[in-house]
Amino acid sequence: MTAGGIPIRKATPADQPRIHAIRMGVRENVLSDPSRVTDEEVAWYREQAIFLVSEAGGEVAGFSCANHQTGLIWALFVDPAHEGCGHGQALLDAALDALQAGGIVQAHLTTGGGTRAEGFYRRQGWQEMGVSLDGNVVFIKPLG
Ligand SMILES: CC(C)(COP(=O)(O)OP(=O)(O)OC[C@H]1O[C@@H](n2cnc3c(N)ncnc32)[C@H](O)[C@@H]1OP(=O)(O)O)[C@@H](O)C(=O)NCCC(=O)NCCS
Repeated sequence: MTAGGIPIRKATPADQPRIHAIRMGVRENVLSDPSRVTDEEVAWYREQAIFLVSEAGGEVAGFSCANHQTGLIWALFVDPAHEGCGHGQALLDAALDALQAGGIVQAHLTTGGGTRAEGFYRRQGWQEMGVSLDGNVVFIKPLG
């Protein structure tokens, strides 16, 4: 499939090293403790939920993960070398389409305050619900 002209497909186990490198390579919303994301969680998103990658020049440029049971956007990360080319929006739109197809009526996520991602979500119509207990900004978006 494509979104906004960008190739999007389901993630496979073979993508994991590249996905891990992108996750560790971003400049914002940096993972302070890699052990907080477990192999079990990653496998669950890949096998049971929604785990998509975008490609540029034959390599994975970014990924998104969403929980089809709750509407949570769990992850959205783009390789800094590919930022600003539409991958983030394409990955988010594809994840939201998959959530909606699964019957979810409202998506939600959290992100670090003052980051590029915060402005990105705001400009895409996400509604701020204040700050979570762990200090991140909570956003919701009705689907449909
Ligand atoms: C936030 C993030 C996912 C955005 O990804 P991205 O691929 O740069 O996003 P896009 O290219 O789709 O859109 C970014 C901007 O580029 C613009 N854009 C889209 N297509 C474009 C194109 N072809 N050429 C130039 N600009 C473009 C968009 O209008 C958008 O503008 P905005 O920032 O004013 O909203 C990315 O910066 C990232 O991974 N950040 C670090 C991790 C993070 O914070 N993740 C969120 C945690 S919840």
